[in-house]
Formats: sequence, structure tokens, C-alpha cells
Amino acid sequence: MLDLFADSDPWQEPLAPGATILRRFALARADTLFQAIAEVAALSPFRHMVTPGGYTMSVAMTNCGSLGWTTNDRGYLYSSIDPVTGQPWPLIPAAFSTICHDAAVAAGYPYFQPDACLVNRYAPGAKLSLHQDKDEPDLRAPIVSVSLGLPAVFQFGGLKRSDPLKRLMLEQGDVVVWGGESRLFYHGIQPLKPGIHPLAGEYRYNLTFRQASDSE
Ligand code: SIN
Ligand code: FE2
Repeated sequence: MLDLFADSDPWQEPLAPGATILRRFALARADTLFQAIAEVAALSPFRHMVTPGGYTMSVAMTNCGSLGWTTNDRGYLYSSIDPVTGQPWPLIPAAFSTICHDAAVAAGYPYFQPDACLVNRYAPGAKLSLHQDKDEPDLRAPIVSVSLGLPAVFQFGGLKRSDPLKRLMLEQGDVVVWGGESRLFYHGIQPLKPGIHPLAGEYRYNLTFRQASDSE
């Protein structure tokens, strides 16, 4: 029988103007991506960053790329140096660049050239409150966000914090891409439900690719 909808076939769900979910797009490459996460974390370990307001984030984070997203007592910033190691962040692994490029092309952003990749790790209960990604100087570049490990509920709203929210379950291999009109839309992750994932154990991981430098 001709199997038009095998479990492993990715599909696309429009989310908002300029935004789409590429369901299971990274699923077949999950193994390699987990390996690459371990390599990044061996050089720049996961840490719980402290917000300028003194709140310790529940999500553990690290970065790779020429710039990494971090916090200090004055605010949120991109830095070329990991403040924990005093060294540059690890290079973006080839497996990361490839999936990000392929996803950006599939979502209609073929020229996206990320120089920053934030790696988030959620343990049970960890969440990311509703926020905008607005620390990047060039908002023409989209955001590419790859989900791995345990499922989580993603909230996606509008330009105002009070705009209605869509709630979508993101599972291993799902890639959300947003840019253009929705580049500054509010989004967040609801507290992770406990579970055991065959590849990720008790965690959810997320790779967020961004262009954090100003285009010349
Ligand atoms: C983020 O907004 O930086 C991460 C979203 C996610 O974990 O899916
Ligand atoms: Fe974000």
C-alpha cells in the first residue's frame, strides 16, 4: 500500500503571519543532535542564569556560536565570551547548522545565517514565562527553534502581552520558525510535565538559533 502519511513524514502547520511549525522536521536527526548538545555542554556547561531582577531561571542554559545569550545584573545581552568559563562559546556544531538551514529554507527564510544558538534544558517544572525575543539588533532575521526530548506546551501570542495565546504541544523533532510580521510575538513554555524520554531522560531540550549581530 502506498503510505502517504507514514509516522516519520514531517508536515507543516501555519502558526501566524511569518510563522510556521515544521512538525517532526528534526526527528530523524535527533540522535546526532543529542550528541552535539553533549559536546557543547562539555565545553560550556548548562547553568541557571540569574535575571537582572535577581530571579534564578528554572531553565538551564548554555550557548554555542560566536555570540551567546546571557544575563548580568544590568540586563540581557549577547556576549562572545562565556562568563562561566571565561572562554569563547563553543562553535555551532555542523549538525546544528544543517538542521537550522534546512528548517529555515522549508519555512521560507533561505538567507538566514545564525551566529548564536541558545541551548535550553527543561527539567520537570521548568518554564519560560511569556517574553519577546528582542535582544537582537536586526529583526529581519527569523528565529528557528528546535524541540527535543520530553513534550512541552508552547504558547504563542501577538505583539502585545495581553494578546490571545495559541497553546501547542511541541514534541521531539518539531521546529518552530517565526519572523517577519510575527518576529516580535510573545511566546513562552508552560511548566514541563515529568516524564521519561528514551533519548533525553527527564529533560526537554530546545535549540534557539538567532542572528545576534548587526548586518553590515
Ligand atoms: C525560547 O523562547 O527561547 C525557547 C522556547 C522553547 O523552549 O521552545
Ligand atoms: Fe524566546
